[in-house]
Amino acid sequence: MAERRKFIAGNWKMHGLGSSVSEIGPIAAAADALDGVDVALCVPATLIHRAAKAAPTLSIGAQDCHQEDAGAHTGCISAAMLAEVGASLTIVGHSERRQDQHESDADIKAKAEAARAAGLSVILCCGETEAERDAGQAVSRVTDQIAASMPDGAAADWLTIAYEPIWAIGTGRVPGTDDVAEMHSAIRAKLRDLIGDEAEGIRILYGGSMNGGNAAELLAVGDVDGGLVGGASLSADKFVPIIEAAAKAS
Ligand code: PGA
Repeated sequence: MAERRKFIAGNWKMHGLGSSVSEIGPIAAAADALDGVDVALCVPATLIHRAAKAAPTLSIGAQDCHQEDAGAHTGCISAAMLAEVGASLTIVGHSERRQDQHESDADIKAKAEAARAAGLSVILCCGETEAERDAGQAVSRVTDQIAASMPDGAAADWLTIAYEPIWAIGTGRVPGTDDVAEMHSAIRAKLRDLIGDEAEGIRILYGGSMNGGNAAELLAVGDVDGGLVGGASLSADKFVPIIEAAAKAS
């Protein structure tokens, strides 16, 4: 099996003014000090430049990009613009954008390809609603999302998948480890169908209420290669223990 380094990515969502940049130094210091784990922080677009300057050794990411290079798209930001101010990766397809901005799988595929073309790595999100899980459709829903949003040229050196059950995001509720194992292994199998051997190297993160208390257990599940962390990434105090758990799990 391919060696996959653990990967912990923070997602600040729409949180953070300039005063929050002071959290980034200690996060970067922890990431530098620990072996066996890659760390990234996806901050609001307005903070990318300052974050990248404050922590030159940390991967700083965006949370979305537009699928086109440039054009009449008021308020949108292209992948090249994000790269120019210091982003090295971006999230695409987060469930909050799928819901709030009505993004489709086709949009997300195009965004991932645009990000790649601009030199960014990509974290592509998928996940089921609680109703879909209750109806026994979680695996089919998620693997359908993966199939429909898989970017052309998908490869392990730039693409990461994040499985985030929507009902676990920001709720403090976390699926059982059996359910996480089932889903991550189904995602790996779907990736194998879609891109063959390259699937072995693609990291699959778990996201949804991961914190310092549950990270070790989640990161020990087969095919869980890291975490996408929202609320607990907003402060170094809460985020560093997750990074430490990932370093231990590797
Ligand atoms: P949460 O968010 O850790 O606050 O649940 C995760 C995410 O939405 O990426």
